[in-house]
Amino acid sequence: MASKKIAVLVGSLRKQSFNRKMAKALIACAPAALDLEIVEIGQLPLYNQDGDDEGLPAPEWTAFRERMRPFDGVLFVTPEYNRSVPAALKNALDVGSRPYGQSIWSGKPGAVISVSPGAIGGFGANHHLRQSLVSLAVPVMAQPEAYIGGAASLFDAAGNLANDGTRTFIQEFMNSFAAWVE
Ligand code: FNR
Repeated sequence: MASKKIAVLVGSLRKQSFNRKMAKALIACAPAALDLEIVEIGQLPLYNQDGDDEGLPAPEWTAFRERMRPFDGVLFVTPEYNRSVPAALKNALDVGSRPYGQSIWSGKPGAVISVSPGAIGGFGANHHLRQSLVSLAVPVMAQPEAYIGGAASLFDAAGNLANDGTRTFIQEFMNSFAAWVE
């Protein structure tokens, strides 16, 4: 069976981002049924509906929409900013959702994993993101939920995941996501 192509969107633009490190760990432990790659979002100008209404979308919006459309599913790996979704990731959702009726998200199966150095693992961002995904007709995997706390102690100096319990958990998460996408 051909593997499913999955876009991985990382909600942090920070060079040493724990979420980006987690995204790489998720890609590394994914089953063969999933073919994952990170799609960058930091280059996207802030969404302004005038661009689409006037037929002059930012070239970066168009490139992102064209890049995303062929994927079979999407995995969101995000920090929590002020108990919600970081602006960069919300902007990418908004860019991909327009022009009206041409959303790139509709029907793509998704999953959310939030990563934070804090104790509650980005729960607020995780659920705010799920709220938007419902509106965008992304069928989001319900279980297992993934709120990864204590992120500052999970990675070694090279940025590799160095916690066996977390590795086992994310392997199970990715196996469940593969089944969800299928
Ligand atoms: C944060 N951080 C944070 N953490 C958290 O658990 N809940 C929160 O509401 C917030 N709010 C917040 C707002 C802003 C503007 C920043 C910059 C940071 C801390 C955040 O979890 C921490 O910086 C992580 O390291 C961000 O993830 P990356 O960049 O490591 O992937």
